[in-house]
Amino acid sequence: MKAEMIVFSGSSHPGLAERVAQRLGKPLGKSHSVKFTNENIMVRIGDNCREKDVFVIQTSSTPVNDHLVELLIFLDAIKYASAGRVTAVIPYFPYCRSDKKDEPRISVAARLMADLIQTSGAARVLTMNLHSPQIQGFFRIPVDQLLAAPIFFEYFDRVLFKEERKEDFVLVMSDAGAAKAFGYYSDELKLPVAIIDKFRPDHSEKPIIRQVIGDVRGKACLIIDDEIASGGTLIEAAEKLAEEGAKRVLAAAVHPVLSGNAVERLVKSPIERIIVGDTVPVRDKIQGHEDRFEVLDLSPLFARAIECIHDGASLSELFPPSVRRRH
Ligand code: R5P
Repeated sequence: MKAEMIVFSGSSHPGLAERVAQRLGKPLGKSHSVKFTNENIMVRIGDNCREKDVFVIQTSSTPVNDHLVELLIFLDAIKYASAGRVTAVIPYFPYCRSDKKDEPRISVAARLMADLIQTSGAARVLTMNLHSPQIQGFFRIPVDQLLAAPIFFEYFDRVLFKEERKEDFVLVMSDAGAAKAFGYYSDELKLPVAIIDKFRPDHSEKPIIRQVIGDVRGKACLIIDDEIASGGTLIEAAEKLAEEGAKRVLAAAVHPVLSGNAVERLVKSPIERIIVGDTVPVRDKIQGHEDRFEVLDLSPLFARAIECIHDGASLSELFPPSVRRRH
């Protein structure tokens, strides 16, 4: 007999977890999380998990380190509650930009996160648009990486390519990494690509744009990135594109981290509209500036992926063929 499914939410993104649970047609499992005055966190599971197929949804949002530790404790509590299998559903992966040792005496922190998540009891991980594909290889358990592309493509078709002729658009990859990671956008949308030649001289979150490679003059430029953190990349890129004669500048990014005063800075930039996913809570951050942001609900993809994992079905069916090759 197939194990019963039960889905829990950590405290990082209850809104997304609720929408996923609604789509699955089940209430979220009961749990209670406490942070004591000494900053220690306790999680108590309120439902029987014995032999069940358990999913815990917890993203990497502010306060990142608290939410990370809460996830680890959640997984551990479920493991000790005799779950049959535990899947950590991590829409935005913690420390994902620390994915390589490119300086002396630093940690590859994303690999450390993988170790911690496995040690805490996860038997599988479900995540979305990893900053780099090698993060999957940091695990010794199965990692399913969803790509938000189908939901972004649906919005582009339904809205952007209705406002303006599709052939007037150019996809602008925010750097060489984005060009590699999002190559399938151009295959699927059949649009030309330009690339921002960007480098980071230090850790100040102030990227330097050397040039735009490709033709953007008179075009509607849609910048593509995996995440927006300080907003520096998008702002610098947009200013450069405007200088180079772009007709309009828009941006699309899966993970709207929007740290510090990113929103205030972005709304002063030449970017007309910023299309983001909801892998982290974003509504409060953009309050008062809703006209400049479009938030896409990614819960349908997470819900369908959870169903596939539970049923032992392939996740490839969730993506069009050119996207399927990359997930
Ligand atoms: C960088 O490698 C990423 O793809 C993003 O461009 C970066 O994380 C964005 O960060 P920020 O908004 O701080 O420039």
